[in-house]
Amino acid sequence: MQAIQEAVAYIQAHTTNFRPTTGIILGTGLGALAQEVDVQHEISYADIPNFPVSTVESHAGRLLLGTLAGQPVAVLQGRFHYYEGYTMPQIVLPVRVLKLLGISQLFVSNAAGGLNPEFAISDLMLIEDHINLLPTNPLIGPNLNDLGPRFPDMYAPYDADLLTRARAAAVALGQGSTTQRGVYAAVPGPMLETPAEYRYLRTIGADAVGMSTVPEVIAARHLGLPVLAVSVITDLCYPGQLKPVVISDILAAAAVAEPRLTALMKAVLMAA
Ligand code: HPA
Repeated sequence: MQAIQEAVAYIQAHTTNFRPTTGIILGTGLGALAQEVDVQHEISYADIPNFPVSTVESHAGRLLLGTLAGQPVAVLQGRFHYYEGYTMPQIVLPVRVLKLLGISQLFVSNAAGGLNPEFAISDLMLIEDHINLLPTNPLIGPNLNDLGPRFPDMYAPYDADLLTRARAAAVALGQGSTTQRGVYAAVPGPMLETPAEYRYLRTIGADAVGMSTVPEVIAARHLGLPVLAVSVITDLCYPGQLKPVVISDILAAAAVAEPRLTALMKAVLMAA
C-alpha cells in the first residue's frame, strides 16, 4: 500500500493534480494510440517511485496524462509481463496507482494468438471472459482491504455496458466484420505455444491466447473498476493455419490493426 501511495504522491506532485477518469494500458506493438492523446504530462516509468521499468523493446515505459476524445485519460504506454520476472504486485501496481489517481474505468489492449478458426490476422477481439493459466495472481497474500474485498466476484470481469458500447462503436465505424468477441486465455510465456498446447487451449474454451491482461483485470475488478479489454489477433494458432511465428510478424499484424483499435477506443470514450 505504501509503494502505491508513494507513486501516487509523486505523480500528483508532478501533474498539478491532473485527475484522469479513464486508464488505458497499451499492449505489445499497440503504442500508437498515445499519438492521439493531447498530452499534458509525460512521466517516464523510471522516475516514478516503485514503478517497475518495462524490459520489452516494443513497450515504451511512459505514463501519459492528457485528453483523448475529450476525456481526461492516463495512458500506460508499456506494461509489465509475468515472463519478464516481475512479481504480480509489481505487474498490477500501475492499475492500482491509476485508481488512486481517480480513474473510474480501465481500457486494456494486447496482442494475442487466434484460436477460433473464424478469426483472421489483425482482427480485434472484444474480451468477454478469460481463463487464467498463469501460476499465480495478484490477490495472493494479505488482502489490501483499502483497495477491495478478500474474495472479489468474477461473474462479469468485463463490463457488459462497455462491451455493448464497443460492439456498437465497431459497427458504426464499419469494423463489424473484423471485430470478434471471445474468451482470452493468459499463459506465462515467453515462448509461444506448441501445437498440442494450442489445441488444448481451444478445447478448454479459449478463442485467443496471450501473455498479459488477466493480472491487470483481476486487480481492476478487486478495485471495482469496470474493464474493457481488446485483443489484436496477431497470429493464427488453429490447425491448418499454424506456422512458425516471429515477433516481427506479431508486431506487423498489430500495426495493421492499431488504427482500428485506436478508433474503437476513442469512439467508446466519446459515447461516455
Ligand atoms: N501465444 C501467446 N501469446 C501471444 C501469441 C500466441 O500465439 N500471439 C501473440 N501473443
